Amino acid sequence: MPTPESPGHYTKPIIEEGDVVVLWTSDNRSRTVRVLANLIHKTHLGDLDLNQIIGQQTGCRFDLKKGWGLALPPALEDRIRVVRRNTNILYPKDIGMILMKLVIGPGSRVIEIGTGSAAMTSALAYAVSPGGTVYTFDVREDYLKPAEKNFRRSGVIGNVEFAIREPATPLQLEPVHSIVMDIPEPWTEIEVVTDALVKGGRLVSLNPTYNQIEKMAKAMADTGYILIECMETIFRHIVTVEGRVRPSKIPVPHTEFMLFGVKSGEELSEDTDQYYSQR
Ligand SMILES: C[S@@+](CC[C@H](N)C(=O)[O-])C[C@H]1O[C@@H](n2cnc3c(N)ncnc32)[C@H](O)[C@@H]1O
Repeated sequence: MPTPESPGHYTKPIIEEGDVVVLWTSDNRSRTVRVLANLIHKTHLGDLDLNQIIGQQTGCRFDLKKGWGLALPPALEDRIRVVRRNTNILYPKDIGMILMKLVIGPGSRVIEIGTGSAAMTSALAYAVSPGGTVYTFDVREDYLKPAEKNFRRSGVIGNVEFAIREPATPLQLEPVHSIVMDIPEPWTEIEVVTDALVKGGRLVSLNPTYNQIEKMAKAMADTGYILIECMETIFRHIVTVEGRVRPSKIPVPHTEFMLFGVKSGEELSEDTDQYYSQR
């Protein structure tokens, strides 16, 4: 069983039972699958007995009744795709930006407020391993078990502590390097999360509406955050068929605004406008 310290556990040459793989089939479809012994995976081109690929090389070819396929190594995005949704989840386009802008990497400690379906949790665990820890909290006990299951299903190897927590109660942890909040009223938690963040640590709050962002940005400025900036990633697929290269007609909807800030840990001027990005 790989541990967060096992080198190369995401790039193994041989498929073992319990691994997560992407099954591509010759109708050019793909899905992310956990390889369990004695399980039949159904595809449009026929059934695949997963025993057939255990012990084979990553990337191996398999035959199906009406076609063939490949068992490919998953990208982080594929691992998150297996999440069974109890809640809205964060999308790869936003997760990518968040990981670029937080203080996060192997060994760092992160708090997540709003576990939801654990899509973000898996990405955070991936980013802090080896050696780091993700502490993730939700108010809903009934979401926690499915969230833990989703995390295991992703096949991400990392230290995650899942816990139930009453809103706005002290976090009682050694200060962490970054905090991710994906809850509807983040301003109600600003004091307690700021206490749990190292000086210079970074916070991101995800919210879909302008009025939530306006309220949270003010709460952050009033609590001593600097370099406060809000952004949205606008994303579209491009069709690449020769002679017809153009943006996809399938729109990607608005997801979240991302509001970032850095904890100054200092008494700041009362004129807080200067701490917002005005680009
Ligand atoms: C949109 S979901 C989070 C989705 C998650 N980011 C993901 O990618 O799967 C929001 C979650 O926040 C939880 N929540 C709401 N207020 C909270 C609070 N004050 N503290 C902790 N969790 C909270 C809800 O129960 C819900 O599960």
